[in-house]
Amino acid sequence: MIEGDPAADFPAETVGRDWLHKDLLGIQGLKAGEIAHFLEVADSYVDFGRQSIKSSDLLAGKTVMNLFFENSTRTRASFEIAAARLGADVVNMDVATSSVKKGESLLDTAYTLEAMRPDFIVVRHSQAGAPLLLARKVGSSILNAGDGQHEHPTQALLDALTLARHFGRLNGLTVAICGDVAHSRVARSNLHLLTTMGAHVRFVGPPSLAPKAFEALGADVFHDMAAGISGANAIMMLRVQKERMGRNLIPSDREFFDFFGLTENRLKLAAQNALVLHPGPMNRGVEIASEMADLEGVAKIREQVEMGVAVRMAAFELMNSARSNPDVMKVIP
Ligand code: NCD
Repeated sequence: MIEGDPAADFPAETVGRDWLHKDLLGIQGLKAGEIAHFLEVADSYVDFGRQSIKSSDLLAGKTVMNLFFENSTRTRASFEIAAARLGADVVNMDVATSSVKKGESLLDTAYTLEAMRPDFIVVRHSQAGAPLLLARKVGSSILNAGDGQHEHPTQALLDALTLARHFGRLNGLTVAICGDVAHSRVARSNLHLLTTMGAHVRFVGPPSLAPKAFEALGADVFHDMAAGISGANAIMMLRVQKERMGRNLIPSDREFFDFFGLTENRLKLAAQNALVLHPGPMNRGVEIASEMADLEGVAKIREQVEMGVAVRMAAFELMNSARSNPDVMKVIP
């Protein structure tokens, strides 16, 4: 599926059906060959999701626990649907009504849940590093569904799958990630994934939301929207994540849109056949003009959601294969 990527230079042994990681905590640290392999497996699930009967027994008898300490619509539903389509039993922990509200620590909650022997725990948490902490303490496979401003690996993989299916490659593409980059785990995971796969990443936004310091991580930073999206193959718009800001960092939604909103005129500056992506939830009229979000053949926002289910099915398949490998599992306390 992905031609001309650095993954092609990777030793064949990293590109097997075998996956050598118990957990999916982030993109950072994954090799190009592993990412390419992940995307191949995910791609194989896209048609599966389009069948009228969508059921497999790959995870029959396995238990998936969804543990979301932060709000979510698409990510939680997507993990749940992916697990159900693979035949797993899925339990959604409603954290709002759980003992967490009575002051139980994350680890005590995890140990309690672990005692019920779930095979997979999907976790979203406002603290960066929470999934890593769990992964070190419990034998279940931990899938990071977003931790603070740190990583959101399945989002970056679904974005990459959307791009790779459209362009046939990731290598050499220029992707402009625009808006509130500073508070975005989506931006960080995408930066790791895209640069590993040979794509160029631009971060575009006001200095308060796209600081120059990101250049040290390999992104080109632009404070001017026109310059930042000029010639880009894909434009990924991000929500202004006010709930993650200690103080208000933008003067007003209106002004933000005037300077950094994706409009028809600005989109004309991108490369021909450029795509528009957005991880959702979208704030129409703030980071993106409503018509741009619905632009037929250009905006791939709903396709991203579809790819999300395929990516999460691949994640379960790969972690499940790692779990049957004693060498992978022996490092667990
Ligand atoms: C994102 C998230 O939660 O990090 N949403 C998502 O998972 N699709 C982005 C956001 O909150 O704006």
